[in-house]
Amino acid sequence: MDRLTLRRPDDWHLHLRDGAMLKAVLPETARHFARALVMPNLVPPVVTAADAADYRDRILAAKPRGSDFRPLMTLYLTEDTQVPDLRAAAEIGLVTAVKLYPAGATTNSASGVKDFTKVRRVLENMAQIGLPLCVHGEVTDPEVDIFDREAVFIERVLDPIRRDIPGLRVVMEHITTADAVDYVRDGGDDLAATITTHHLVINRNHILAGGIRPHYYCLPVAKREVHRKALVAAATSGEARFFLGTDSAPHLDAAKLMPCGCAGCFTATNTLSILAEMFEREGALERLEGFTSLHGAAFYRVEPNDARIVLSKGEPVRYPPGILTEDGVVTMFDPGFPLHWRVEG
Ligand code: NCD
Ligand code: ZN
Repeated sequence: MDRLTLRRPDDWHLHLRDGAMLKAVLPETARHFARALVMPNLVPPVVTAADAADYRDRILAAKPRGSDFRPLMTLYLTEDTQVPDLRAAAEIGLVTAVKLYPAGATTNSASGVKDFTKVRRVLENMAQIGLPLCVHGEVTDPEVDIFDREAVFIERVLDPIRRDIPGLRVVMEHITTADAVDYVRDGGDDLAATITTHHLVINRNHILAGGIRPHYYCLPVAKREVHRKALVAAATSGEARFFLGTDSAPHLDAAKLMPCGCAGCFTATNTLSILAEMFEREGALERLEGFTSLHGAAFYRVEPNDARIVLSKGEPVRYPPGILTEDGVVTMFDPGFPLHWRVEG
């Protein structure tokens, strides 16, 4: 097979940032994706309906001419989130999901949740109206090893919340472990997971063996090879509960390449080439469309996109090493192997 037609994909977990960064990264996503669920971890975060409306306007204003890309907005859950504001935002279709960051878990998560009992009423309301909760699934307890934080989160936080609030629709974001794959697989219809492009490609050796590679550092941090394999198996399984959320998370090189560098891999530009290569290796190219274009839409209860993209296979595609913003360079994720699939047009 050397040509593949897919419904236009959606990215169910994306960081677009703001200002000069937004302007530089938005075209990279809009080129291939019809819609993206936009993460709210700006500084200050997108907390209220008014914040989300303003941010959406800034994104639409930064859209390349002629693009029909649609940002789907999220609210950043805090211990002060107001139920009426959130319900109103959901009712008018302004927000598609609410994002839970445990305080301190990742980039710009300082306003996140410390005491989960304080958001119980909000979560109950979300269960009532079917508004999904996107979860950054890592505990922040310094006693817990960083490589165990996802598995411990499932046991200590996520499972208790789901038992406490039946009917709450949850997306475990950017899963990185076989534990999460198993938990999501057994979790019933209200539970799904996004998987990133980079977690299908790298394990922790890529970050640390033979020299430290800051551009492979993201959160949750990549785990052992057995976990990467479990993610590949889940993504290529055709199971509707697993779908693409790239977690493309641009940071300037100046912020990545320093003694305390930022977490995040920038994958918006070459994601589809990488995924096609990975799915082909697994003999699962016919399941790529489900992962990129159908399963996420079904979970979020929206129609899949009518438009199509065509991927074609040929000589290795050359991507630039990064993109330029007005403030500096953002290095592109390097999968470390040649990419033969390109999106036509
Ligand atoms: C994300 C970011 O930079 O905003 N970083 C990352 O490593 N994935 C935050 C996140 O999704 O955890
Ligand atoms: Zn993210």
